[in-house]
Formats: sequence, structure tokens, C-alpha cells
Amino acid sequence: MDSSVPAVLSQPVVARLTRAAIFLVVTIRPGAEQDVTVRGLCADLSGLLRAVGFRDLEGRLSCVMAFGSDAWDRLFGTPRPKELHPFREICGQHHAVSTPGDILFHIRSTRMDLCFELATQLMARLEGAVTTVDEVHGFKYFDDRDLIGFVDGTENPVDQDAVDAAVIGDEDPGFAGGSYVIVQKYLHDLTRWNKVPVEEQENIVGRYKLSDIEQADAVKKPYAHNVLTSIDEDGKPLEVVRDNMPFGNAGTAEFGTYFIGYARSPRRIEQMLENMFIGRPPGNYDRLLDFSRAVTGTLFFVPSVTFLDDVVAENAAPPLAAAISQESKVADTARPHVSAGDGSLGIGSLKNEVGHE
Ligand code: HEM
Repeated sequence: MDSSVPAVLSQPVVARLTRAAIFLVVTIRPGAEQDVTVRGLCADLSGLLRAVGFRDLEGRLSCVMAFGSDAWDRLFGTPRPKELHPFREICGQHHAVSTPGDILFHIRSTRMDLCFELATQLMARLEGAVTTVDEVHGFKYFDDRDLIGFVDGTENPVDQDAVDAAVIGDEDPGFAGGSYVIVQKYLHDLTRWNKVPVEEQENIVGRYKLSDIEQADAVKKPYAHNVLTSIDEDGKPLEVVRDNMPFGNAGTAEFGTYFIGYARSPRRIEQMLENMFIGRPPGNYDRLLDFSRAVTGTLFFVPSVTFLDDVVAENAAPPLAAAISQESKVADTARPHVSAGDGSLGIGSLKNEVGHE
């Protein structure tokens, strides 16, 4: 990290992959009192997490709380993260829909009961203030495979590479330590997918199904998923941190992948999505999408823990924003609502938790 950036604690966006996760997307109901409730939770998240997580430290419970563009304006006003905007739908060979969402909770643990307990506590705190628009309980499936049968996550960056990919540095100093996250819920037509010969499935993904080994460049099809999602800038790869999870409902034959990608700029993920949905070049689109339909799509900003800890429930955004002194731009723009928080959430640190939780 650039030494000119003040030390802040990041939320655990680069936490180690876990066996269970809950993805909870809610919208905030109208009314100033709802904003107070939500802001109240921001500073209390660390305490709730400590209380539930302490029941089994080996369960590695973590939670990322992130905010949509409209919710940010409503709750925190200005300053705002440079690249925060609503998810932009893409209409190409396939359709990447944009769906509502003010707050995302990404809860991870080795145990679903810990995830569930935290989700329950969070929702109890937010009772009456929010409406749940989507809740997905994800699980790890054999060998970290998704339900289309391929190992998912192999090429994820780790350690410092993950931090470099996902955590904002001095390009937006007021929000250093933050991150952007895009989620999409995909539903698979497994009946049709399972009729596709394995060799063609492998061409679609760009890896061998059983061994998970990447196809050689000479073998890879131009439309392979790993070709279209590999992007670079001036010859340097632009990476994102993913933690996709399978989910499903056997009784209703619902089989899905919950895509979640963190990046220091949403542009990276948007570029990958354009390559997948429109094609690179246009028309050379991702054939996975012939079998998988995106039914949600939302973009959020993940503020640092330092920011969350300092949020004050009662104060409305505009007067506070006005009160921020210009001289303390770098350190204080990341903490518009200064309170006597302990400054630590114990769930991840930009400095000390590189690549781990
Ligand atoms: C139906 C949804 C999806 C499924 C089932 C899926 C599955 C996979 C699989 C099996 C791999 C290969 C193993 C690995 O490296 O992880 C992979 C790689 C990857 N996926 Fe996806 N993916 C999905 C959606 C997306 C989306 C929406 C994005 C980005 C916007 C994305 C970005 C990537 C990237 C960056 C890689 C690594 C490419 C490389 O460097 O080799 N995926 N995905």
C-alpha cells in the first residue's frame, strides 16, 4: 500500500473462502427514522460480529456490509466514493439485469449456523427499517465446484495480490481501504447443460472439468469464460476477488451460482461483464450464458471498518458533510461521522490481514 495513505482497517473483502455464506440484499424503507436505524447498525456491526463469532472462533465468521449508490447519498451524503453508481444493465447477446439493493451483507463462515445467527441478529436490528429483496444461502459443493460441475475460484488472486486487486489505495484517498462489490444471482438450466458433451463444456469454461487444469492457449476457444474474463491495462492483468457460491432448491429444481466480485474499481468487473454479455469482439460472447441466466445485478461500495465504526446514528448526512473540514480531507473524508468508536472491528485489517481474515 502507498505509505501516503492513512492506516485504516478494511472490511474482510479478501477473507479466505469458506464452506458457507449468506448473501442478504435489502432496501431501506422511506422515512428518516429508518436511516437512523441503519446508521445505528453501522457502528454496532463490530460488536454483533464479535458476540456471534466468539461462540466458535474456528468458525471464522466474517461480514462485509456494503451500500448501493442511492443509499450512500441518503445515509452519508458527501463526500462519496468516486466510482459509486447504480449497476448498469447490459443488453448484448444476453441481458445483465440491474436490480434494487441498498445494503448488501456478505456473511461467511465455515459453519452455516454462525452465518444464520448473525443474519438473524442483523435483521432483528433492522426490523421495520428495511425490506429484504434477496437472501441466498450458499454452500460449498464437492471440491469447490459450482453446480455446473467445474471448480470455481482457482485463479483468484491471494495474499497481497488480492489486496491489490480489491482494496482502494491512493486513487481515492478519502475512501482508501474501501472496495467495490458487484453481485449477480445466476440460475442454471442444468438439464440442458448436462446434455452438452464434457469436451464442449470444457471449451466453454476454458479448463478441464475433472482435473481443473487450464486449457493451453492454443486449445482455448476465443469464447472461453476464462478468456473473456481475462482483462489487462497496458499489458498488466486487472484482477478481481471472487467468492462465488452454489445455491439451490432441489424441490423446485432451482440450481444457481451466486456471483460476487470485489475490486478496487467497479470498471474491472463491468469490463468482464461486457466481454461476457456483449462479447469481445461483439458477438464472441460467453457461452455459459446460454445456460445461465442473471436474475439480479447490483453494485455496492464497501467502506472501511474505520468508516463504519465512526458512523453516528442520529446525524443526517448533509449537515455532517458540510461540517467536514477541507484541511483534513485525506484522513477525515473517510470518517464523516466521528464518534468515540474503538477504531477496531477485529474482522480484517488493510495492514495486517493481507489475504486472510
Ligand atoms: C454463472 C456464473 C459463473 C460461473 C458458473 C463461473 C464459473 C467460473 C469457473 C468455473 C472458472 C474457472 C476457475 C477459476 O479460475 O475460478 C471461472 C473463472 C473466472 N471467472 Fe467466472 N463464473 C461465473 C460468472 C463470472 C462473472 C460474472 C465474472 C466477472 C464479471 C467472472 C469472472 C471470472 C474470472 C476473472 C475468472 C478467472 C479467469 C482466469 O484468470 O483464468 N465469472 N469462473
